[in-house]
Amino acid sequence: MPEATHPSGLSAAKIAELRALATQAAGSAYAPYSKFRVGSAVLLEDGRIFTGANIENASYRLTLCAEHTAIAKAVSEAGPKAKIRAVAVDNLNNSGSFPCGPCRQVILEFGNPDTWIFAPSDKGPEEAALSTLLPFGFHLETE
Ligand code: THU
Repeated sequence: MPEATHPSGLSAAKIAELRALATQAAGSAYAPYSKFRVGSAVLLEDGRIFTGANIENASYRLTLCAEHTAIAKAVSEAGPKAKIRAVAVDNLNNSGSFPCGPCRQVILEFGNPDTWIFAPSDKGPEEAALSTLLPFGFHLETE
C-alpha cells in the first residue's frame, strides 16, 4: 500500500530526518541557567537544512531560542530570499516544547501559514501548521 502523504507534502523519512537533526542539535545547547536543552532543524524550500540550539546569556533576556538560532544560520547562509518549508524542534529534557510565541513570529517571517512545525508535545511527537500556532501573525507589506 502506498504511504499516505503528509499534508506538508514531506515524506515520513524527511520528517524523521528533521526530527533527528533537531535532537542532535540540542546536544550543542548552551543552557547553564535553565538546563533546558533545545535543538531545531529548519528545512528550506531549496532542500537545504540548517540546525541550531538555544544559547542562553547571564542577562536572561538576551537568550536565543534554538529555532531563532537555526533561522539566523539559514538566512545568513542562504540569503534574504530563504523560504522555510518546515521546522523541527526537540529537547533533551523529555518535555513538550513547541516554538514559543516570538519564535512563531520569526518562523512566519521566512515561512508562511502552511509551514509545518514538528515538535514534542507533553504527550509525545506532535505537529501543526504555523497557521494553527499563530493564527493572527503580524505582517508588513514590502515592495
Ligand atoms: N527555548 C527554545 O530554545 N525554544 C523555544 O521555543 C522555547 C524556549 C529555550 C530558551 C531557554 O534557553 C530555554 O529554552 C528555557 O526557556
